[in-house]
Amino acid sequence: MLKNQHAVKGMRWSKQELVEALAAENGRDIFKKADLLREAVCGDEVHRRGLIEFSNYCARNCHYCGLRRDNSKLTRYRMSEDEIVESAQNAKKLGYRTVVLQSGEDGGFTTDALCRTVEKIKQKTNLAITLSVGEKTKNEFRRLKSTGSDRYLMRFETSNRGLYERLRPGASLDTRLENLKVLRELGYQVGSGCMIGLPGQTLEDLADDLLLMEKMDLDMVGVGPFIPHPETPLKNSPRGDLKLTLKFVALVRLVTRNTHIPATTALGSIHPFGRQMALERGANVLMPNVTPEKYRKFYEIYPNKICITEKPSDCAGCVGSMIHSLGRKIAKGYGHSLKQRREA
Ligand code: 5AD
Ligand code: SF4
Ligand code: FES
Repeated sequence: MLKNQHAVKGMRWSKQELVEALAAENGRDIFKKADLLREAVCGDEVHRRGLIEFSNYCARNCHYCGLRRDNSKLTRYRMSEDEIVESAQNAKKLGYRTVVLQSGEDGGFTTDALCRTVEKIKQKTNLAITLSVGEKTKNEFRRLKSTGSDRYLMRFETSNRGLYERLRPGASLDTRLENLKVLRELGYQVGSGCMIGLPGQTLEDLADDLLLMEKMDLDMVGVGPFIPHPETPLKNSPRGDLKLTLKFVALVRLVTRNTHIPATTALGSIHPFGRQMALERGANVLMPNVTPEKYRKFYEIYPNKICITEKPSDCAGCVGSMIHSLGRKIAKGYGHSLKQRREA
């Protein structure tokens, strides 16, 4: 740990510098710096987090997302508690040390049911558990923590308040940020992030996203390109740019320094080497899918998502070879937060 502490403190970026870096024709300079900083603070190990997409029901109606309430074309599914526990056991068998339980904001899967599921997974596998199930009350977050959840992912999506509130009807950015603050206070390791290339989003907005990530002192930061879904109001908007997203990933590393940064599925879905490129530009985490094969195609947040026809073991083999092909190593530990905090 200590030998890397010198790499943790670095220069502060101004908004203007961030805008210029995002606008630069050539990203080579920040790509190289981000890769070196990743090596200094994370080493060569890549952490794998097994993703279980356990329900695609959602009460919200986000303009960008294929799981939105008004998408009546989507076949909805909700895995049973036992199926989720079995998927977690499968994740353990595949060698993963963390499972991520993700769903839409599904009122039909109660917090009690989720608590029971978390408790069973912890008991049977001792895996680290990350939740990604949307906004809840402080009490619900507390119960989920006390039954064994370690981490929580909740992207702020965009720091532009007007854009946020236009794209997420009925939701407010302040509530989102308040939820994230509560998660931190309760002792979760907290991940957030945003999308790149939302319609109307400017480079200034993206610079603000980076500065917000820095200010929030996050443990994990996930970002990906916006990809238009044909059954949403944004179906005719252009998708987020690969190169801009990669520059953003590199800047996430340079600005937030000792965070866990996934090479996201969305990046892998817009380019066959999207994830590999991210791993060479600041990222140190992969999130292989461990959802049972039969449900995968219904978790269609955006079209052309990768890993839709594969089995959990296929993705395990795939990410293993990806890590080795880049000359990196499969991490052995839990991959908890790299930040030193006073005990929560
Ligand atoms: N394109 C890319 N990412 C999307 N998300 C939702 N819809 C899309 C889309 N159309 C992202 C959001 C959400 C995460 C689970 O998926 O950032 O937080
Ligand atoms: Fe629901 Fe999340 Fe999709 Fe919004 S982004 S519709 S909250 S699953
Ligand atoms: Fe699923 Fe490559 S990670 S097939």
